[in-house]
Order: sequence, then C-alpha cells, then structure tokens
Amino acid sequence: MKISKICCIGAGYVGGPTMAVIAKMNPNIQVTIVDINQERIDAWNDKDVSKLPIYEPGLAEIVAETRGKNLYFSTEIDKAIDESEMIFISVNTPTKTYGKGKGMAADLKYVELCARNIADVAKTDKIVVEKSTLPVRTAQAIKSILHNTGSNVKFDILSNPEFLAEGTAIQDLLNPDRVLIGGESEEAIEALANIYGSWVPQDQILRTNVWSSELSKLTANAFLAQRISSINAISELCERTEADVSEVARAIGMDSRIGSKFLNASIGFGGSCFQKDILNLVYIARSYGLNEVADYWEQVIILNDHQKRRFSDNLISTLYNTVSGKKIAMLGWAFKKDTNDTRESAAIYVADHLLSEQANIAVYDPKVPSKKVYVDLNYLQTRSEDENKALVETFDDPYEAVKDAHAIAIMTEWDEFKTYDWKKIFNLMKKPAFIFDGRNILNKDEMTEIGFEYSSIGK
Ligand code: NAI
Repeated sequence: MKISKICCIGAGYVGGPTMAVIAKMNPNIQVTIVDINQERIDAWNDKDVSKLPIYEPGLAEIVAETRGKNLYFSTEIDKAIDESEMIFISVNTPTKTYGKGKGMAADLKYVELCARNIADVAKTDKIVVEKSTLPVRTAQAIKSILHNTGSNVKFDILSNPEFLAEGTAIQDLLNPDRVLIGGESEEAIEALANIYGSWVPQDQILRTNVWSSELSKLTANAFLAQRISSINAISELCERTEADVSEVARAIGMDSRIGSKFLNASIGFGGSCFQKDILNLVYIARSYGLNEVADYWEQVIILNDHQKRRFSDNLISTLYNTVSGKKIAMLGWAFKKDTNDTRESAAIYVADHLLSEQANIAVYDPKVPSKKVYVDLNYLQTRSEDENKALVETFDDPYEAVKDAHAIAIMTEWDEFKTYDWKKIFNLMKKPAFIFDGRNILNKDEMTEIGFEYSSIGK
C-alpha cells in the first residue's frame, strides 16, 4: 500500500519532531500535524522558527526546510483525518489525577477522544498508528471504538512507540537504534515500514505483535529509569564511605555486560515519561495480581523521590539548618539540558521544598520562560500564587541571578554552566559561598580553589 498523505494528532514533543523528520525524509508524502491547541499550532506556524513551541537542537532547521512544502500544522483535525490514509495518535497520556487508578494509571481520555474522532470522520480505509506511549492492550480499546462505527471503513491498528529522548530528539530520529512496529496486518506494517525505510535500514525495523510493542515501550523506560535509580542508590552509599560515584560508575560501566550509558549519578530523573510510565507498569502489574513485580518497579520511583528530597535536605542542613530568608540561586529549571520541557523536573520539587522552608529562590534557565516557572510551582498548590510570586524571582542573566545568593543549586546539566566565570560568581555571592552541584558538572578542585564550599552527588 502506498501512502501519500499522513496526519498526526498531537503537535507536542513527540508529534512535532517525529513528523518533521518523516516529512524531511519523505518529500513525496504530505504530512499534516493537527492539535486542538490553537496557540501551539500558531507557534509552530510562526515565521520566526526560533519561536517554535518546542526547543530541540536541529528542529528549527528541519521545520524551516519542510514547512509549507510537505509539512503543515493545523487545527483542522477532521479535514486532516478525512484526507489521510495513515493517522498517528501522538497525544498526551498523563498519569490519572482522579478516580480509579488515580496517581498510577495512564489517563487515556485523550487517546479515546482521538479514536472517536477518527471513527466519526473516516469515510475511507485508514491505518491508525499508536505513537503515544500506551498501556499494554490499549489497541484493543481503540479497535473496539473504530470497529463499531457501523460504516464499511476498514481500520488497521499499529503500535509504533517512540524512543526519542528530548534534547537529542532529531539525532535519535535520524539515527534510531531501532524502529518498532507492532500489528496484525502485514500490509499495514509494511506500509509504515516503508515510510521509515526511506532512511532507516530494514533490519533495524522490528516487527512484533501489538502487545509486545506496547509493552516494550513501558519496559524500555522502566529499564532506563532503573539504571538511574540504581546508580543514585549507590551515590548515597558513596557519600558515607568516601567512595566516588563517578569512579564506581566508570569501573562498572567498562563491563560490557553493564555498559557505560545512563550511569551518571544526579539529583534524580525527571521528564514527562519515566515516572508516568513506571507508575503505569506498576498499576498494570498490580491489576493482574503481580504484586512482587509491581513492588520491584515501584522502588525505582521511591528511590528517585528520595534522591530529590535528600538533595534539598542536604542543602538546608549545610546552610546551618535554615534557609529562611536566604537567597538560593537555581541554575536550570528544565528536566535535562537542551530542552525547554520542565515536566516533572527535579528543580520544581527541590524549589517547592526550599520554599516551604521560606527560602527566596532565584531561577535562571537558558530556555525555560519565566512564566513556566510560576505555572509549574502553582500547579503543585503548595502555597498561593501570590506567595510563589513573592518568593521566586526569575532572571535572564545568570550573573544577576547569583548576586547576593547564599547558595547555588545546579539543577540542569546545561553545557553553558561549565564555562561561566566562576570567580566572578564567587565575588557576587554572600560568603561562605555554597554550590550544590546536582549534576556533577563542575570540577571540585577548581571550585574549592576559588573559595566555594562545593558539594556534589555521591562524592
Ligand atoms: P505533549 O503534551 O507535548 O503533546 C500532546 C499534544 O496533544 C498537545 O499539544 C495536546 O494539545 C494535543 N492533544 C491532546 N488531545 C488532543 C485531541 N483530542 N486532538 C488533538 N490534539 C490533542 O506530549 P508529548 O511529550 O508529545 O507526548 C505524547 C506521547 O508520546 C505521550 O504518550 C508520551 O508518553 C509519549 N512519548 C513522549 C516522549 C517525550 O520525550 N516527550 C518520548 C516518547 C514517547
């Protein structure tokens, strides 16, 4: 089956970059990304590509090259569904905040709305591709909605989870370790494999059954997060035993069975996916009565929460057990470098903890807008919006942010932090000047030489 028009519902961190790369690599396919969020679509259509709603290295260039040629952004969802032979669902699947499974299960209402929308509009046969991360067996629900339309339209459902990492999305999409396609219909699987085949070697395109594909995505995220919690658990032990977690990570990482990636001790993982997907895995395991399986994976989250908490506890105890009225400068608000995404960022939780201890927080992040910092804190509802406004200040200049600060907390591993004039920063701060390096990016000897009281993770 030859595909000439595809659409993607959801113009977010996955839909945007993924479709931009598909459009770039398949100039003969018309790709339309639709969303209910008008503001987001307007930003995707902004003439100035530095104003795109998502920051990813290399993304603006690809959008500039393809937009208006074979890549379109629109809010006309029905029209795009009607015209396309293949429809990707790439909407958000957050953790449920209400009802059964609250705080654990994935909220599938947005996915279901998409399925109903497709069922209502489709007049010709469609291949529906699950791009969102979904609980195993979700395709069954989508199938049931689509197959009960009473029309003669044929729907094939594929699972095609996305493995890109924010911050390196474009590189990951252009050179994926693998592409995973789960489905029943060979014809539909090959139609999608052909699209990826224009730049991904066929032997890197895995074909599986739908359920393996859905479960592989949750499992991949659970394994990745587990490595971070594992090294973070060891980091606490290092701090008590004079072992150095970087040395331990290096020593174990050279074992080819273990491998060296994802072994950086830090303040803990954030982002929209790891926690949500593990909670979902735990929920699914429990719903099948697999309590040992559920407990095992839940521990990854418990350790991650502990790591964030112990970072702020350590900061407070080092500052003579009180941060009340003290200025703490936070460098970085994004959950990792090279993205403007702040979902589940460790910075939010550390700031919230310090604010509850009456600290004044100064935030600088190279890509996160000021507005977002307040939205993130207000969302927690720990205190009033006015209190957050009074206690938190954001800055466009890092040297302004650190002026008269009692301590600096490094929350994101942005490269630019390494190249700052740290002598100048030392001179601007109150003394003793403390640095809490939550990402282990600075050199301890250099910082101590300048005069800082420097502490990092796992050393
Ligand atoms: P996002 O929140 O950035 O984007 C989702 C978009 O879908 C939003 O713009 C929203 O307005 C839109 N939307 C929701 N319901 C809609 C509807 N009924 N019709 C039209 N548009 C609708 O989410 P993100 O980060 O792109 O994630 C999407 C999915 O991809 C999630 O399931 C996530 O778990 C998964 N994923 C995310 C990765 C990441 O790094 N962010 C990586 C791999 C998978």
